[in-house]
Parts: sequence; structure tokens; C-alpha cells
Amino acid sequence: MNILALETSCDDTAAAIVEDGRKVLSNIIHSQNELHAQYGGVIPEMAARRHIEVINTCIDEALQQAGDMTLEDIDCFAATLGPGLAGSLLIGANTAKMLSVMTGKPFHGVHHLYAHVCSNYLNSELSPPFLCLLISGGHTQLLAVNQDHQMNILGESLDDAVGEAYDKIARLMDLGFPGGPALDKLSTDGDPRRFPLPSATTKAPFDFSFSGLKTAALRTYEQATQGLDPEKDVETLLTIKRDMAASFQFTVVETLFKKTLACAKMHHLNTIAIAGGVSANRGVRKRFMDFAAQQPDYRIYIPNLGFCTDNAAMVASSAYYNPITDDLGREVFSRDGGEVTTVRIINRQSF
Ligand code: KG4
Ligand code: ZN
Repeated sequence: MNILALETSCDDTAAAIVEDGRKVLSNIIHSQNELHAQYGGVIPEMAARRHIEVINTCIDEALQQAGDMTLEDIDCFAATLGPGLAGSLLIGANTAKMLSVMTGKPFHGVHHLYAHVCSNYLNSELSPPFLCLLISGGHTQLLAVNQDHQMNILGESLDDAVGEAYDKIARLMDLGFPGGPALDKLSTDGDPRRFPLPSATTKAPFDFSFSGLKTAALRTYEQATQGLDPEKDVETLLTIKRDMAASFQFTVVETLFKKTLACAKMHHLNTIAIAGGVSANRGVRKRFMDFAAQQPDYRIYIPNLGFCTDNAAMVASSAYYNPITDDLGREVFSRDGGEVTTVRIINRQSF
């Protein structure tokens, strides 16, 4: 089954074609980073407009990359329905619904977080049950995935998501947008022990809390750089930034690793998958892969770098394994549980 999927939940316009939920035939991503970098964050209205401008090109490129396919070669159309930015979601969802109506092929609506989990199925042989650590810009969760690909939340962040904390610290240090990858890169040459930072304990053992760490990092950085002149003290400032990046990354990675491992032990799951934009982080990847190399009883799965941040191949996989709907009338939603738009697409019969 060839699924053509679209992903427009935030600021990346993506189209992909995946065969049987696993084999990636094409994966096209038009990043809007350049557009939003000048504002230091995503401007929802601009993101939606850019999706409109490039979505058709993305679809054409996805068909072409998959070996000059046509719409006739596609068996099902899919798109992310939420959570995400309502205006952005509408572009991908309505385009996929319209392709479904035009061709008479089914439409599958997908949950963005399930899709991140499914990025681990792409070009891989992973099968459930497994534990998934989902670390993105909006969510930090530990999920148990059962044989039927159903997902049960075992723990989650009580405040900031990991990616959000990365982005905020990076903004403070003027590292540009998006901040996570820049902070990750900077950390490689820093001293992770120079600035000891707290790791929060939570009432429920598998929940997370990053706001205390974020505040401590902000305060420590402000103290360390107090009185320094950005023009004259360039080297000193750069060293402080490197050491702060390394210290922050060290604390985050240890917290994620220890909680995930404890959760895996408690729930007798020795297959662990990592997903979401922060799974691209070098520190995270190294910590888990080093562990897997020493502990052959555990199997660790981390998506290829191209499938970590938002992409449509993971949406196609999720449309195959665990779509949330095949109803063309199902609306997009910006948050879990809350459907937001009043646009209802006509059903196929009345078209
Ligand atoms: O999954 P994603 O593309 O979008 C959401 O669903 O949120 O994740 C984006 C997040 C951003 O916060 C970004 O800064 C972070 O993932 N990120 C990273 C890295 N690459 C992306 N954070 C730390 N290290 C990275 N290498
Ligand atoms: Zn995402």
C-alpha cells in the first residue's frame, strides 16, 4: 500500500510516499527556518501562508522522487490533523482530503505524536511492544506501545517540553533559531561539569519537569556573564556559552536516560525507541547507543536524522499502523481533545 502523506503542523511543509508503513519511497521537506529566524520564533500566520505557497511543489517532488509516480499509484492520502497550529494544519489536511475526494481513494487523519513514534518504523524492523521516549518541541512523554500499536502514556513533562527548554536557553545565549541544534553543536567543545545544574524530582517517578533546570541555567548564565563586554570579552563569552551548553545538555541527557531506563525496567520493556526533534541530539543518541553497546539485553531504536524532526514519512507510517480517523469530516485540532476549526469538508457522496 502506497501512502502519500502531508505534514504541516508547524513550520515545515513536508510530503512523502511510504510503502506499507515502512519503506520510504520519497521524503520532501521544505523548511521555513529562514523565514522565521528573523523573528526568533514561528509566526503562525506566516507559516500558514508559506505552506499554501509550497505544498503543491512538495507533492510534485515527492511523486517525482518516488520514481515518477502519479496520483494513480497512490492507494491512500494522509495528513496530520493535530496537535499543532490550526492555520498550518488546515493546509495539509484539506489538501490531502481534496486529493482523496478527487481520486476516490481513502483519507487517513493522523495524530502528530503517534506519527513521531512511528518514525521508528521507517526503514527499520522495529515491532511492538516497546517503550518510546518522545522528546519534541511541544512534548516530553514516555509511552508504552502495545502489539496493536496503541499508546499508553506512562509519564510526561509537567511544565516545559525538552525542545522548548533547549530553545529558550539558546535564545538567551543568542544562538539563533531554531536554538536546539545550535546549542547541541556548541556543547561538543564545552565542559559539562563547569556549571552543576539541578535535575528535578517529580512526585510520579516517570514524569519530567524542566522549568527549574531552565531557570537555574538562565540565572547561572546571567551571573557568569555579568560585567563582560560582548565586544572585548569575545573569547571568555564563547567559553562560557560552550560550558553552559555542555552542562545543560549533560543534565538533560542524564535525566532523560535515567527515567527512561527505570521506566523500561519497571514495565519489563527491553526495547526502547526514541522519537521527536530532540532525538536528533548528539548527546541523547550517544548516551543511549553507548548503553546498548554495553547491554545486549536492550535494543535501542533512534530514527535516522532525516526522520527526527517533523517530516511526512512518519505521518504515512502512522496512517498505515494507527490512523486516528478515516472520516473526511474529522476536523483539525490544535490541542489534544479540542477541535478548533469550523471548516467541514464535504463527504465523498455529496461531492
Ligand atoms: O519534533 P519537532 O520537529 O517539532 C515538534 O513536534 O515540536 O521538534 C522540534 C524541536 C525544537 O525545539 C528543536 O530545537 C529541537 O526539536 N531540536 C533539537 C535538536 N534538533 C531539533 N534539540 C536539541 N538538539 C538537537 N540536535
Ligand atoms: Zn513534531
